[in-house]
Amino acid sequence: MCGIIGYCGPKSTVQVLIEGLKRLEYRGYDSAGVCVCGDGPLTCLKRKGKIRDLQGHVPAATDGRWGIGHTRWATHGEVNDVNAHPHLDCEGRIAVVHNGIIENFAILKEKLQSEGHSFASETDSEVIPHLIEKYYAGDLEEAVKKALGLLKGTYGIVCMHVDQPQLLVGARCGSPLVLGIGNEEMFLASDVTAIISHTKQVVYLEDGEVVTITPSGYRTTDMRDQEIEKRVELISWELEEIEKAGFAHFMEKEIFEQPESIKRAMSGRLDHDQATAHLGGLNMSNRDLLNVERVRIVAAGTSFHAAMVGMYLLESLARVPCTVEISSELRYRNPIVERNTLHFVVSQSGETADTLYAMRELQRKGATVLGICNVVGSTIPRESDGGVYIHSGPEIAVASTKAFTSQITVFYLFSLLLGRMRDLSFEAGKRFIQDLQSVPPKIEQILSRSRSILALAEKYCCYKDFLFLGRGINYPVAMEGALKLKEISYIHAEGYSAAELKHGPIALINDETPSVFLVPEDSLRDKIISNMKEVKSRRGRVIAVAVEGDREVEDIADDLIEVPRISEPFYPLLMVVPMQLMAYHCAVHLGRDVDQPRNLAKSVTVE
Ligand code: G6P
Repeated sequence: MCGIIGYCGPKSTVQVLIEGLKRLEYRGYDSAGVCVCGDGPLTCLKRKGKIRDLQGHVPAATDGRWGIGHTRWATHGEVNDVNAHPHLDCEGRIAVVHNGIIENFAILKEKLQSEGHSFASETDSEVIPHLIEKYYAGDLEEAVKKALGLLKGTYGIVCMHVDQPQLLVGARCGSPLVLGIGNEEMFLASDVTAIISHTKQVVYLEDGEVVTITPSGYRTTDMRDQEIEKRVELISWELEEIEKAGFAHFMEKEIFEQPESIKRAMSGRLDHDQATAHLGGLNMSNRDLLNVERVRIVAAGTSFHAAMVGMYLLESLARVPCTVEISSELRYRNPIVERNTLHFVVSQSGETADTLYAMRELQRKGATVLGICNVVGSTIPRESDGGVYIHSGPEIAVASTKAFTSQITVFYLFSLLLGRMRDLSFEAGKRFIQDLQSVPPKIEQILSRSRSILALAEKYCCYKDFLFLGRGINYPVAMEGALKLKEISYIHAEGYSAAELKHGPIALINDETPSVFLVPEDSLRDKIISNMKEVKSRRGRVIAVAVEGDREVEDIADDLIEVPRISEPFYPLLMVVPMQLMAYHCAVHLGRDVDQPRNLAKSVTVE
């Protein structure tokens, strides 16, 4: 979603802002803008479309000593130059970039208009510079706080005033904001990717906090002006991790990183002597874990599919009843929180508004909520009662791939831990660890056959509709396969339980609707084979993802993608990889914007 960058210091402000915005592109956006100031008035440039379009319109001589930039993902008002950020006050002396939604903007706007303020855009955000203008009496921080006091909704903002050289004020309520500390320079950004090429020292702002920066220092306060001492943290990853490293797209790179990212998710967490797992961040003793009678997992998008795999694992291996819910649904249905139910929220970004609000609702009711997240220092890990980082490294492509397999890996670890406290024997635990460790090299094998999947993608990407069908623990993988395809290639696809086919989707089957069947070597294999035959007998085309050497499946399917043999619970980690590659190659062949698909955002920070 929207991205923010702010800078004050000796470097070329325009360059720092444009570079920062480029690094934020992955979040998804539809327009971009910058505002800089040197010794004269504010120069504000904004443009619908890509950053390169904006860059092309920045006159060569434009620069400044401080400034702000923004990538917009439209919520209020259509996508055009005027609605892009930064937004200005009436006199063009104050500029503001805003992430989030101001829910009471209509009332505020009406009042400001009646007081003589004139608005240029249709956005909710524009009320902020006008409110600051109204309250400004020489102190920007004070005016910002007065303005923020009137807002209802969510925001991460950065503001500048022409009369306050090299000073920026940032504030957060529901949308992330991070301060970057440099040498005689300071940065504000919606996420660290925007500033990591300049500094690794950061301070994460909490809701209700305001920060004022100049090149030589910063001050963090709450809304009542109380100073807040903040911890400076060090970003642990390197700039190279957010570069493409020779791959055509971030998504391709991230698919190929999976053998490594899965190993990182396991690293230091397997206990071979006890045949169990250690997950220190849970903040729970074995006795606490023994008291867990149920697990509820809450998530959105791809993370929801990982949560569904987690449910199958926890029930089958740890024998603990488990439910999974879409976070946006859970929040508004007044969820019942039962004693001894352990809650997980799963989120790659740790910022998804639906999931964050669901977590807060559960915590308000007294639930213990653990996070399974990737982005270190993001809101969910900071507010949850404990959790597990998946350590995938930055995931830049909007379509999630390596985070999915690492989230699942964490569920394997947690199921092993809980299972070993219940009825999973030492021997079974040992075998489980061996199987889990055999996954990365098996994924390497699948990746080495990427070219054959490319050929399949070229053959099939002209079709308009697809069905993805799996059963049991691979049913959520079928859903994930369908999601990947629709997200990045814009081909319509549905993921279903293969058994459910006969209850409706079979009506869609003809020679123009191919079906992708996931056929692992498991207890449901024969039933899936029957489902495949049902499709074939209706002239449907079948692409099967099956185990190497499965001749029966090969005979039925029109096309076959082979995966190595592994024991039953681990197939999701193998089966999903061809789905990711298939979606990727279809999207590339169709000329889609693979890493930044239309209308989508990497981290959805509004409801
Ligand atoms: C967005 C992204 C998806 C992602 C979902 C949940 O919709 O486009 O790729 O799966 O949010 O994100 P989270 O960061 O909470 O896992």
